[in-house]
Amino acid sequence: MKELSSTILLLLPIAVLFPLLFPASATNSVDITFVDCLVNHSEPSHPITSAIFTSNSSSFSSVLQAYIRNLRFNTSTTGKPLLVVTASHVSHVQAAIICGQKHKLLMKIRSGGHDYEGVSYVAQEPFFLLDMFNLRSIEIDMETETAWVQAGATLGEVYYRIAEKSKNHGFPAGVCPTVGVGGHISGGGYGNLMRKYGTSVDNVIDAQIVDVQGRLLNRRSMGEDLFWAIKGGGGGSFGVVLAYKIRLVQVPETVTVFQVERTLEQNATDIVYNWQHVAPTISNDLFIRLILEVANGTQIGTKTVRATFIALFLGDSKSLVSLMNEKFPQLGLKQCECVETSWVRSVLFWDNIDIATPLEILLGRQPQSLKYLKRKSDYVKKTISKESWEGIWKKMIELEKGIMYFNPYGGRMAEIASKETPFPHRAGNLWKIQYQANWYEGGEEVTQYHINLVTELHKYMTPFVSKNPRQAFVCYKDLDLGINHHGFYSYFEGSAYGVNYFMDNFNRLVQIKTKVDPSNFFRSEQSIPIMTHVGIVRMVTEKSLVSILFGLCALNWIRILK
Ligand SMILES: Cc1cc2nc3c(=O)[nH]c(=O)nc-3n(C[C@H](O)[C@H](O)[C@H](O)COP(=O)(O)OP(=O)(O)OC[C@H]3O[C@@H](n4cnc5c(N)ncnc54)[C@H](O)[C@@H]3O)c2cc1C
Ligand SMILES: *[C@@H]1O[C@H](CO)[C@@H](O)[C@H](O)[C@H]1NC(C)=O
Ligand SMILES: *[C@@H]1O[C@H](CO)[C@@H](O)[C@H](O)[C@H]1NC(C)=O
Ligand SMILES: *[C@@H]1O[C@H](CO)[C@@H](O)[C@H](O)[C@H]1NC(C)=O
Ligand SMILES: *[C@@H]1O[C@H](CO)[C@@H](O)[C@H](O)[C@H]1NC(C)=O
Ligand SMILES: *[C@@H]1O[C@H](CO)[C@@H](O)[C@H](O)[C@H]1NC(C)=O
Repeated sequence: MKELSSTILLLLPIAVLFPLLFPASATNSVDITFVDCLVNHSEPSHPITSAIFTSNSSSFSSVLQAYIRNLRFNTSTTGKPLLVVTASHVSHVQAAIICGQKHKLLMKIRSGGHDYEGVSYVAQEPFFLLDMFNLRSIEIDMETETAWVQAGATLGEVYYRIAEKSKNHGFPAGVCPTVGVGGHISGGGYGNLMRKYGTSVDNVIDAQIVDVQGRLLNRRSMGEDLFWAIKGGGGGSFGVVLAYKIRLVQVPETVTVFQVERTLEQNATDIVYNWQHVAPTISNDLFIRLILEVANGTQIGTKTVRATFIALFLGDSKSLVSLMNEKFPQLGLKQCECVETSWVRSVLFWDNIDIATPLEILLGRQPQSLKYLKRKSDYVKKTISKESWEGIWKKMIELEKGIMYFNPYGGRMAEIASKETPFPHRAGNLWKIQYQANWYEGGEEVTQYHINLVTELHKYMTPFVSKNPRQAFVCYKDLDLGINHHGFYSYFEGSAYGVNYFMDNFNRLVQIKTKVDPSNFFRSEQSIPIMTHVGIVRMVTEKSLVSILFGLCALNWIRILK
């Protein structure tokens, strides 16, 4: 107690001076000298002028909206950047980083714009946007079976370019072709090759990043700590990733896909019950995603639950059917329900595109449809009893909407140690849940309805999912887990979501972050916080300032009451 009060006394002058030392700076229009700074700091051989879009520019809105992938963040009240830099050369990225710091302006980084919470292009305080979509080259080297892929490339482009070179190679990454490499690999990235080859970051062997000092670094020059951190520690905390070097993986020339649906009337309970035992333990060549959603029952006016099983098998349909008959007869998969195709065309199948469509559709950067959405995630470690499934159906039907995607783990995922990459969800997880709400009209009420729905389903699932911490996947960004204000409680605020996303890897991420970006320039609502002595002192001083003010108020009160 004595010690504490002497600390407070010692820190009193700092506390009083505090507002003077750290004045709030907020402007609402971009300073013209900021534009000057960008121009001055880019190479004359690569002029930045044509890459700068201020709110004065007639293309400002279309540039900003071009990569908004969640309509929740396309409203007139959504916080907009003061300026967008559509970098087309590394010097533009360097200029943005240097000038952002000089002008104390928050910078957001966007690659594919698929962030579920719009964190890559929305902020409540004045900010500018560094947009990476022009930096999207893909260089494949079949001799070493590797590729350099720039951050602004989409997964569809990566898959297309690989298939152009080889029928026997693929890459384990997301299912949706318009997702950007920059944000996806920064957060781990997974897809239907996960049980065979792990996540995307398990197949990254080098990277290029521009750090807070504007230096262009590769794996050797950044060192193994930073290289580790940018393989799953989440985007926007450590620097701007320019490119990742990936290792291609082997796929057979013929793969098999299927999608079959079973409602409760068609024994879905029994089949789902068996899926949870089979999907995480079956051959690594087989990935069976399960989607649960409410559907109309056969009788008019009734509701049921529909279970959709969508699969990728690295082999032919004959082997698949015999494997399924042996391990998962409850589904009753028939040969005629199987489609044999190439790996790259299986990507179309999984994205609900006719597999006969010309492959160039993978180069299209616009998603098939845009919607309003909310996502949350969970991990399941123990199988769920039939009685509990019945309860889940009841809850889903009561909520009427709300979708759950189950992605089975096991296989390669269980072999990789959880400290190997910041992405920690490895052995012991049976499957990951993604909770979904999708809607097609704006407005506060509709939005609240859908968000509540997802929240309630997530709450209902509490007894069946991981706890202490309740694990979550950083690519499925969910601001309900906590928001960082980057003030005095930054580390504590950061641990709220950080431990869910990264578990025991969180503290190592904080250490690396503190070392490589001590001024916390690269920050966002859920970035990795810094932990410094200054930070601790600032926290203590703020705390004591609050208690002094509180004390003064209390004294005054007592005086008045007397
Ligand atoms: C339709 C859809 C389908 C999806 N499917 C999958 C899936 O199958 N598997 C899966 O794992 N995930 C999936 N996701 C989630 C997706 O992986 C993440 O949203 C990912 O972060 C998106 O990357 P992006 O570049 O498109 O996003 P952005 O919104 O551009 O970025 C996401 C985050 O990364 C930061 N960031 C972006 N670029 C850089 C960079 N170059 N350097 C540093 N930081 C950067 C941003 O600031 C932001 O914090 C899906 C998302 C959507 C919307
Ligand atoms: C935008 O336009 C206003 C008024 O026309 C002008 O004062 C301001 O300097 C312009 N800003 C930039 C960044 O060009
Ligand atoms: C940019 O460079 C010019 C010429 O060197 C200089 O006059 C100007 O002050 C610089 N502006 C900024 C913002 O650095
Ligand atoms: C985003 O909002 C703008 C302005 O209201 C609108 O013109 C545009 O069509 C919207 N984008 C989408 C994809 O709905
Ligand atoms: C459901 O299972 C029962 C018993 O296992 C079986 O008799 C029945 O044919 C199945 N129904 C369907 C639609 O598969
Ligand atoms: C489900 O039934 C409702 C009426 O009960 C109807 O309005 C709706 O269109 C049906 N949905 C589908 C997908 O058939």
